[in-house]
Amino acid sequence: MDFCEVEPRRVAEQPPWANAWTFAPLRWVQFFPPTRIEWTRLRLPIANLPRGFDGLRILHLSDLHLKTRWPAAYDGLLDRIGQHPPDLLLFTGDFVDNKYDHRPALPLVRRMVEGWAARAGRFAIHGNHDSYAIGAALRDTGVRFIDGQREILRLPGGGLIELIGLPGRRRLELSPRFLRSIPARNPATVRVVLSHFPDHLRRASSLKADIFLAGHTHGGQVCFPTGRPILTHDALPPPLATGAHRVADTWLVVNRGLGYTGLPIRAFCTPEVVEITLTEKIEDRG
Ligand SMILES: [Fe+2]
Repeated sequence: MDFCEVEPRRVAEQPPWANAWTFAPLRWVQFFPPTRIEWTRLRLPIANLPRGFDGLRILHLSDLHLKTRWPAAYDGLLDRIGQHPPDLLLFTGDFVDNKYDHRPALPLVRRMVEGWAARAGRFAIHGNHDSYAIGAALRDTGVRFIDGQREILRLPGGGLIELIGLPGRRRLELSPRFLRSIPARNPATVRVVLSHFPDHLRRASSLKADIFLAGHTHGGQVCFPTGRPILTHDALPPPLATGAHRVADTWLVVNRGLGYTGLPIRAFCTPEVVEITLTEKIEDRG
């Protein structure tokens, strides 16, 4: 398995165009099954980070779009996760590709999630290609499905992390009532929102998340050589459809995902795993 390492970076220090140009040589045309996965490592400064959370690692996976063939590259991916398990593993939807019948891909989904390792928990939401039957079928794997739910975890060291899963199968499932049911963020916690759709960032702005994780766009799947998406199937502007961005007080992280839909090709848009390390907030200088 060939992983492209993207060095840890504090996103706040990057100009908006940095992602596109700095890593352009790594984003070539790739036919599936994939032979190369980009391992994007981000260091995200968080205000009022609870004691003991500095260095907390979150692995963010998305958009597997599994079909009926197991990509050999995923064995290397699972090996690597198993060798260095993160504190949390979070998945933002689209386990399978077939919207009408998830069953042929279900054995591969099970093989994938049973290979996931994380010290404090594995959490997932469904995507718009998934049936809610997938979560029900995987209940025995220990992966927690949190569509339309809020979870508060006390991690080793005593700090609290709050996970909010937005319903991911259809945009209309995100109701104002659900958003109103979420209490104001406790400053002593880190609030992480899982959303399949990046443009839910606008509708869910009242949540004031520290980190908003999303997928769905595949980073465009077929991009210009700069890495800029051509089509995103999302209402956010194309530059926000991939990568990490500061939007108000929230880190928006849009994962390019691992799989594909439609044509078995990615162009200038390598499959991606995102590893986030939390750090204490850096005060602005000057
Ligand atoms: Fe997808």
